[in-house]
Amino acid sequence: MPYKTFTLRERPDREDDFEQLSDASWPRFLRQQDALGYGQYWPRLFTTWADWQLLIVDEMGPTIAATHAVPVVWNGTVEDLPSSIADILRRAQADHDAGRAPNVLCALAAMVATRFRGKGMSAIAVRAMLDLARAHGLRALIAPVRPANKSQYPLAPMERYARWTNEDGLPFDPWIRVHARLGADIVDVAPRALIILGTVANWERWTDMRFPDSGPYVVPGALQPVIIDRQADEGRYEDPNIWMRHAI
Ligand SMILES: CC(C)(COP(=O)(O)OP(=O)(O)OC[C@H]1O[C@@H](n2cnc3c(N)ncnc32)[C@H](O)[C@@H]1OP(=O)(O)O)[C@@H](O)C(=O)NCCC(=O)NCCS
Repeated sequence: MPYKTFTLRERPDREDDFEQLSDASWPRFLRQQDALGYGQYWPRLFTTWADWQLLIVDEMGPTIAATHAVPVVWNGTVEDLPSSIADILRRAQADHDAGRAPNVLCALAAMVATRFRGKGMSAIAVRAMLDLARAHGLRALIAPVRPANKSQYPLAPMERYARWTNEDGLPFDPWIRVHARLGADIVDVAPRALIILGTVANWERWTDMRFPDSGPYVVPGALQPVIIDRQADEGRYEDPNIWMRHAI
């Protein structure tokens, strides 16, 4: 498929496509406010960090895929990995404000438009981020990967799921596999990349489910159960990710 890659800085006319892709990519409950606060930094992706947001565009016109990432300073240790999406953005902003030169690119999301899925475009999106990092002289691409099929196994601990493999020895999860095929390795689990809190009524609206009792619930699109507390009138969901690193 003929395509071209642009930064948002080069194609500001495509800014709305990020929002459209996001709407088509994430379950509704995940598009709510993150209790860890990434929302306060997110708008800066479209201004300060416009050079790091990528659009993969079909030569005939439509946007095929888009990626979000920010450059950060990382010392290469597991301990120094950001703890959440909010922490990634907070650090990127602090590095930027302090004038520290970043040494790695940190991915935040990769989204393929629904009609272009299943055609191998996800590897092209990751490669585009790798090329961008390389062009800026960065030494790695790190990514809090949200495994594509984990929601089918919500009861498996992420530490174990991350290590599941197929007969060919490649990772079981297709999205982890895309990264692994491109040379990335698993560095750690990020148990709480996002935290979504809401009233029971909020959760019922976000999921089209009923939660008559307190306890853990398996919810479509959630990587682990949502915990409902009827007495406190609260539902809590922590989105776990897997840190992967592509050396450059
Ligand atoms: C995850 C996502 C990026 C994958 O993109 P894609 O272009 O559809 O995937 P590809 O065609 O490149 O295929 C990648 C792998 O997934 C597999 N795959 C594709 N569609 C699949 C499906 N519906 N079910 C299971 N596996 C699937 C492919 O077989 C391939 O694995 P293989 O190379 O070992 O055969 C895309 O589905 C998406 O945008 N999802 C919503 C956002 C998201 O979850 N992003 C990732 C977290 S940031």
